[in-house]
Amino acid sequence: MIETLKQVVKKHRKHNKPVWKMIANEMNLEFDYKSPEGWRKYYNRHKDKNPEEEKEKMKLKSLKAKAKEEEKKEKERIKKLKVEANAKINGFVPPKNYKFKIDKEFKFMVISDSHLGSVYEQLTYLHSLYDLAAERGITTIYHCGDISEGYKQSRPDHVYSLHKIGFDDQANYIIRNYPHREGITTYFITGNHDHFHIQNGGANIGERIGSMRKDMIYLGINNARIELTHNCRMDLFHPQDGSSYALSYAGQKFLDSLSGGDKPNIIFVGHHHKGIFFIYRNVYYFEVPSTCLQSDWEKGKRIQNTSGAWLVNLKIDEEGTIVSLVSEFLQHFKKDYEDYKNWK
Ligand SMILES: [Fe+2]
Repeated sequence: MIETLKQVVKKHRKHNKPVWKMIANEMNLEFDYKSPEGWRKYYNRHKDKNPEEEKEKMKLKSLKAKAKEEEKKEKERIKKLKVEANAKINGFVPPKNYKFKIDKEFKFMVISDSHLGSVYEQLTYLHSLYDLAAERGITTIYHCGDISEGYKQSRPDHVYSLHKIGFDDQANYIIRNYPHREGITTYFITGNHDHFHIQNGGANIGERIGSMRKDMIYLGINNARIELTHNCRMDLFHPQDGSSYALSYAGQKFLDSLSGGDKPNIIFVGHHHKGIFFIYRNVYYFEVPSTCLQSDWEKGKRIQNTSGAWLVNLKIDEEGTIVSLVSEFLQHFKKDYEDYKNWK
């Protein structure tokens, strides 16, 4: 039995055959080794090794090189996806425009920040809001983002405030349990918590929910511009800043930053979990409260949470200009700290 390269060479010499070229071919060696100098070097390095084993090693080496190449390509693909996702999340992609057809009197409800999947959610309360909307003959409800709680990877302890973990569990939970009432359509944007799913795995929960629920229409990442009439634009917005010392400060600064031609007539802002309304620079500005409880994390940071919803009655004239806007604030008082246990 042949055990070393030296023995193979010896055997072939006995039969008077051209040794090195033949062995090199037999072993599928790289072209370099097919020159006499290359072969000599190879022989000196491997003469005491088993040629069969060496052949296997060469195969393995080439497989490893291929795998490394594939891995490099995959890493580049993921990097590109992350750049694309971050561009969308960070506002480098312009919001989408939508056209709605409304009557001269348009009644609607606006909610935000339901954070479903978190132990601080208030899904039963959310259902009661939809019941109230149905009672009042409202067919349109807008949601200003953070429909899901997501999972922030850079805060691993975040997992302790979740009762549904991961994209699939949270998406399916919402698809199953988010209020559905005959004749009511929910139009929603996604917010920073929803976008954790994009950051973690490139998955957009808004698109998933929108594709599975006919009564839920996904309008986009962080904001949407809605043309109610030719003369009345309404924006939904989920900013990325934190709460400020004065409740109205963030809103005023935001409206100050808008250029004249780019101002909406009405804007609903989620994210801050506050409930205020004011008119500034001819814009009806609303902070939309959450439909969840104050989390312990918020408590630790002394961030106040207002839970509730806005009901709005908008009247427009022949030209589609606002005649009047009446808002009603519904505040959520009966809090249930274990509501998430009622839902599966
Ligand atoms: Fe939120």
